[in-house]
Formats: sequence, C-alpha cells, structure tokens
Amino acid sequence: HSRGYHERVVDHYNNPRNVGSFNKNDPNVGTGLVGAPACGDVMKLQIKVDEETGQVTDACFKTFGCGSAIASSSVASEWIKGKKIEHVISIKNSDIAKHLSLPPVKLHCSMLAEDAIKAAVKDYEVKKAKREQNSESASNKDVAGTA
Ligand code: FES
Repeated sequence: HSRGYHERVVDHYNNPRNVGSFNKNDPNVGTGLVGAPACGDVMKLQIKVDEETGQVTDACFKTFGCGSAIASSSVASEWIKGKKIEHVISIKNSDIAKHLSLPPVKLHCSMLAEDAIKAAVKDYEVKKAKREQNSESASNKDVAGTA
C-alpha cells in the first residue's frame, strides 16, 4: 500500500493528467527534456504557446520515472496551462513538493518538473528568437536585392 505517500501523489500517479506528446518541430511548441542523474529518471514536458499573448494554451508530458516524478509532472502540466510564460517560469519545485507533500528524499523528483518547465520555455524562446532572426535577415536580403 501507499504508506508515506500523500493521496494526491497516488491520485496523479494513477490518473496522470496531460500525458502525451506534441510535434517538437511545431513552431509554437517548446520541449523540455531533463534527467535526474541520481536515479536516471527522465521527464519530457512540452508546452504550446500562443505567440500573440504569450499564454501556454496546452501542455503535455511523458515521464519515465518514479511515482513522485510522474505526479510532479502531472501537477506541473496542470498548473502551467492557461498561464503566461513569464508566470510559468516562476513555478517552484517547492510549491509542487508542498502540494504533493513529498518527503525530503523525493524532492529531486519535483525539481525535475521545475527544470522541465524551464527547459520547455527556453526551447520555445530560442525557437522564436531564431524565427525572428531569420525573418530579419530575409528582409535584409530583400533590401539588398532591391538596392
Ligand atoms: Fe528520481 Fe523520483 S526517484 S525522479
């Protein structure tokens, strides 16, 4: 039985929310893939962002790891949906750990979720910056071509 685990961990473990994958080549998708060296668990978290508003419209994850890591990523995916990316990055692993009442030895599992959120946002922002750069150099070319 689940002695020592909070019922929320068991709930999210049994019914993880937002399990799945988005196409990582979609320009509006950010992908965060992180691993915990100590235990070898891996978490992939993806966000879909509305470019106009900067709002996370959808999120999904796949976690190969312990129950606490699965529960943490499930909670994270719920919390980031509908939030602006600047708010998403301020979600702390300690908030997730508190919500799930994780014991100290399981804190790194919620850390994985925080890292995955940050990595997903970064991936999205890098892609966006690259697009902007490309469209800039494309328009520079136009100017050069007409000169
Ligand atoms: Fe490593 Fe949970 S035991 S992520």
